[in-house]
Amino acid sequence: MNAPDLPGQPHLAYRAGGLFFEDVRLADLAEQHGTPLFVYSKAAMLEALQAYQRGFSGRQVQICYAVKANPALGVLQVFAEAGCGFDIVSAGELERVLAVGASANRVIFSGVGKTRAEMRAALEAGIGCFNVESESELEVLNQMALAMGLRAPVSLRVNPNVDPQTHPYISTGLKNSKFGIAHERVVPAYQRAAALAGVRVVGIDCHIGSQITQEGPFLEAVERMIDLVQAVEAAGVAIGHIDFGGGLGINYSGESPPGAEQLWKLLGTRLDARGFGQRLLMVEPGRSLVGNAGVCLTEVLYLKPGEQMNYCVVDAAMNDLPRPAMYQAYHGIVPLMPRGQANTIWQVVGPVCESGDWIGHDRALALEPGDRLAVLSAGAFCMSMASNYNSRGRPPEVLVEGNCSRLIRRRETVADQMSVELLSTKAP
Ligand code: LLP
Repeated sequence: MNAPDLPGQPHLAYRAGGLFFEDVRLADLAEQHGTPLFVYSKAAMLEALQAYQRGFSGRQVQICYAVKANPALGVLQVFAEAGCGFDIVSAGELERVLAVGASANRVIFSGVGKTRAEMRAALEAGIGCFNVESESELEVLNQMALAMGLRAPVSLRVNPNVDPQTHPYISTGLKNSKFGIAHERVVPAYQRAAALAGVRVVGIDCHIGSQITQEGPFLEAVERMIDLVQAVEAAGVAIGHIDFGGGLGINYSGESPPGAEQLWKLLGTRLDARGFGQRLLMVEPGRSLVGNAGVCLTEVLYLKPGEQMNYCVVDAAMNDLPRPAMYQAYHGIVPLMPRGQANTIWQVVGPVCESGDWIGHDRALALEPGDRLAVLSAGAFCMSMASNYNSRGRPPEVLVEGNCSRLIRRRETVADQMSVELLSTKAP
């Protein structure tokens, strides 16, 4: 029997006894913790990070893990211990990174809608940089910092007008996008920043999109960014670091994005060619550090073979794995214990009361009720976007290291969900 294909996922392999992540048998974890269950591999995360580190070797770099991809404290700890900085987008993410002992000066704060309260919290913590996304945000940040007797370190997020050639919902660097400061406003915005007493210019940044699988958009962004740095510096404002954002894609279904090492070696040669190779560089990778370091285990509840469609109802749903419903995204689905020739085509769906609640269309699988499956490439933007829709508790998370596994989040109970609610009339 041929073992099912496992695109992209290092440390995930079939051995005698079924599917293993590192040296842990996934069926044992499903038995111990129940399903749905997210499982992450520490080695896969660290290897993904090391690829970036090799790509930047010989350069000054700060790699800031984009917390939104997977904000589990146990995951943040892995990156904090490995020396990463963090890219945050809310006061909540700030509290998370501080909770795992990250040094505030290695934290950068992105996002188009920072509130005053979030700015205050980040200024109090002493974060390394605010990635400012509009001229009006710059004014508010200046006022906040002045009121606190501080100077906020800022980088302006510029919009390099590059097409990342990815899903429209995750394209962010095009001219009409809500993100960043438009090309033509960049020089005046920096001049304004340089004149404000409550801010200190420390860098420039961009982020052109996510799940980018080609080198081209990154190369273009590097050239556009250098053009902008030159224009700003020619206007008399010195720029410290250059932050290229995140966006490198992963292999979900046979895509072949450049490796982080290869990509950054290439981009480094472009920076060298233009005389910027020795600047402090920053990146904000999320998906490429954790996406292929995670799987979601689920159990087949019912099989509903039909005339037109065969439905396989599993216990994970769109609230646990929102990417298929939101972006028509593909995630591989494989059995934990393969049972021979897969000659039936299944629609793998969840229990939520919506036709949009699907996990995988048209999957060839040999199945029986009670079988357990792994939904692949589920380390990024799955648990972080999970919800309580249908009052479903969010799944637990386990981190695997060698032959050890550690529960890093327990299953959410209904009591957890109801604990923040209040009755509208007296209790019955
Ligand atoms: N920096 C900024 C400012 C970002 O907005 C993002 C992602 C990143 C860094 C990290 O990008 P990455 O390296 O992960 O591509 N929920 C969507 C992805 C949304 C990405 C949002 N921004 C998905 O599931 O595909």
